[in-house]
Amino acid sequence: MTRSKHPASSADVPKHIAIIMDGNGRWAKRRMLPRVAGHRKGVETLRGVIRACADRGVSHLTVFAFSSENWRRPQEEVTLLMELFMRALENEVTRLHENNIRFRLIGDLSGFSERIQTLIRDAETLTRNNTRLTFTVAANYGGRWDIVQAVKKLMSVGLAADDIDEAALAQQLSLSDAPEPDLFIRTGGEKRISNFLMWQLAYTELYFTDTLWPDFNAKALDAAIDSYRTRERRFGRTSEQVQTSS
Ligand code: IPE
Ligand code: IPE
Ligand code: MG
Repeated sequence: MTRSKHPASSADVPKHIAIIMDGNGRWAKRRMLPRVAGHRKGVETLRGVIRACADRGVSHLTVFAFSSENWRRPQEEVTLLMELFMRALENEVTRLHENNIRFRLIGDLSGFSERIQTLIRDAETLTRNNTRLTFTVAANYGGRWDIVQAVKKLMSVGLAADDIDEAALAQQLSLSDAPEPDLFIRTGGEKRISNFLMWQLAYTELYFTDTLWPDFNAKALDAAIDSYRTRERRFGRTSEQVQTSS
């Protein structure tokens, strides 16, 4: 049984939203613009979505900005994406800080230029004590990479096979200090995970929309949250068990 819709209360707001921001290229193509114009508009969209999440009491927002597989794109697009990423770090971090937002990056940092690595570290340091919203960008990130690097860390401290359990592994994953995502959103119409948070999405509610990322806005976010609020999260239990425990 699904719950009927009722006015938003903070208890129904997902604590952690994870988003695959997809569809920038198609948005640009429809307008006969170069793909980078879609990525540029996508940055604007993200600015609005961060604000909307903070306003709605979401405590964690994690977005997929660049996958470990996106290096396979034409060199020109990769270069332009890196430039855009750098500009965004230069221009947006002060605003995030003024709004009490903590910035984090997950992914293999070593793939980026020295300049970008410095900007990332500075942004993380500047905003580390902010409490309103933790905004995490997944860049040069892959869910499988994350699991492999976690296993490597466990092995490097010499953990015995018997000591390895789900909690120990989860502790080494990139988002170990965040609650697992409650709501996953993918824009752009594809219905796949594309190597995003493989481990952490195990019990996340999935929401797919055809809206292209540059067209996504606060209203579209509310539609996703409304859908989330009608779901019954059972975590393996029966519906009856869930209803009696709440
Ligand atoms: C998502 O938009 C942004 C990145 C992957 C960097 P796309 O660039 O994948 O846009 P489409 O899917 O081609 O429309
Ligand atoms: C997933 O989008 C990665 C990001 C949005 C950063 P893609 O557009 O790269 O995914 P696929 O290739 O369609 O699965
Ligand atoms: Mg895409």
